[in-house]
Amino acid sequence: MRISVIGCGYLGAVHAACMAKLGHEVVGIDIDESKVLALSSAEAPFYEPGLEDLLREVQSTGRLTFTTDMSAASNSQVHFVCVGTPQKKGENGADLTFVDASMTALLPYLSAGDVVVGKSTVPVGTAARVSEWVEQRQPSAHLVWNPEFLREGHAVSDTLHPDRLVYGVSDGSEDHPAVAILDKVYSAPLTSGTPRLVTDLPTAELVKAAANSFLATKISFINAMAEVCEAAGADVTQLADAIGMDDRIGRKFLNAGIGFGGGCLPKDIRAFMARAGELGADQALTFLREVDAINMRRRTRVVELARDLCDGSRLGKRITVLGAAFKPESDDVRDSPALSIAAQLQLQGAVVTVTDPKALANAARRFPELHYEADTARAVQNADALLLLTEWQEYRDLDPYETAVAVSSLRVLDGRNVLDSSKWRAAGWSYRGLGRP
Ligand code: UDX
Repeated sequence: MRISVIGCGYLGAVHAACMAKLGHEVVGIDIDESKVLALSSAEAPFYEPGLEDLLREVQSTGRLTFTTDMSAASNSQVHFVCVGTPQKKGENGADLTFVDASMTALLPYLSAGDVVVGKSTVPVGTAARVSEWVEQRQPSAHLVWNPEFLREGHAVSDTLHPDRLVYGVSDGSEDHPAVAILDKVYSAPLTSGTPRLVTDLPTAELVKAAANSFLATKISFINAMAEVCEAAGADVTQLADAIGMDDRIGRKFLNAGIGFGGGCLPKDIRAFMARAGELGADQALTFLREVDAINMRRRTRVVELARDLCDGSRLGKRITVLGAAFKPESDDVRDSPALSIAAQLQLQGAVVTVTDPKALANAARRFPELHYEADTARAVQNADALLLLTEWQEYRDLDPYETAVAVSSLRVLDGRNVLDSSKWRAAGWSYRGLGRP
């Protein structure tokens, strides 16, 4: 099929490459010329495992091109809208500027029978509003909402092998003409057994908001348990293992630590609360305020623990922060708890060095006042304390004996509970985890 993908960020660039991999002819469209130039030469403008190899592979087939020219969409029958919906400045709601602008720019190029597929995470009600624009412009075109559930760091495999596909269509019916067209787009994953649900438009929009709220709640639940464990002298990692063995609960997303960040969970739960308020259903989501508050408290807690670890004072202490990305296998620092902790420690007088295998350029753009060092061995040199805040494999694999030789004091704070505490203690380190004795 001929497909256009509008917006080539973390979501769109991966989606475009994966659609070409599935055999379609794809044009990726973005207003950012530098992004289009990079993608056109098979360079990913951000770090995502496997993406550059995939870009090279599909571009050699001639099935994937990139442009800044929206008129290129006129050759396609299916148009995926993958632009960002960041949090509004100073407000909880989502900023729909990019969704509205890209939809408006696309409208003149729609032909009869085309399908516009929204993938961006939007407040419920957006799809109904946009579908009116599509209908007015081209009465036989359709608007579908097909939320994306990909995780950064696993985006390529999540797109090629999704665990479910949700199509929101205006009448919520399997017989809606857009369903058969999307089934053709996704014929490869559908043939290999991916379940597919057809819903109405608001349900499809809410599926995404609900999924991310559930994940955020699960993480904040275990972080709340970590607070109680700290007060009671218990171990949250053992607690998570034990409750996770109940398959109604499950062990995934029960890792207590410095909390969730990134470009999705934090802003999505806030936008969901804001939208529920507009709909008069704000009471239903007041618990998300607590989920957010528990999450933000983790960052303060780590700053306090770092002070305790450094004998009650952060002033002048050389602290090395291992990890800047919001999670491993990503260079994304949007709302990264690691960076936010590093910045707070620096403000309180510590001399902070941040290291990360992939995210330093993005981190330096966001917090230029912090000191960055790409080489781990140099970053830990003469440190008074190490803070492991993003669980890259390289940091999990640090040897406590070898590292002891480089630092000036043997203190480590394991913000992700991934180090073997007994091994580090045996090597002479003063070890602190989160929610652990
Ligand atoms: C998330 C959703 O998982 C994905 O389905 C949606 O499409 C977009 O938002 P992502 O932002 O890539 O994906 O990250 P995710 O893997 O969900 O992790 C979010 C944050 O939670 C990270 O900061 C991670 O470190 C943290 N986390 C995750 C925990 O603190 N504990 C856990 O047990 C799991």
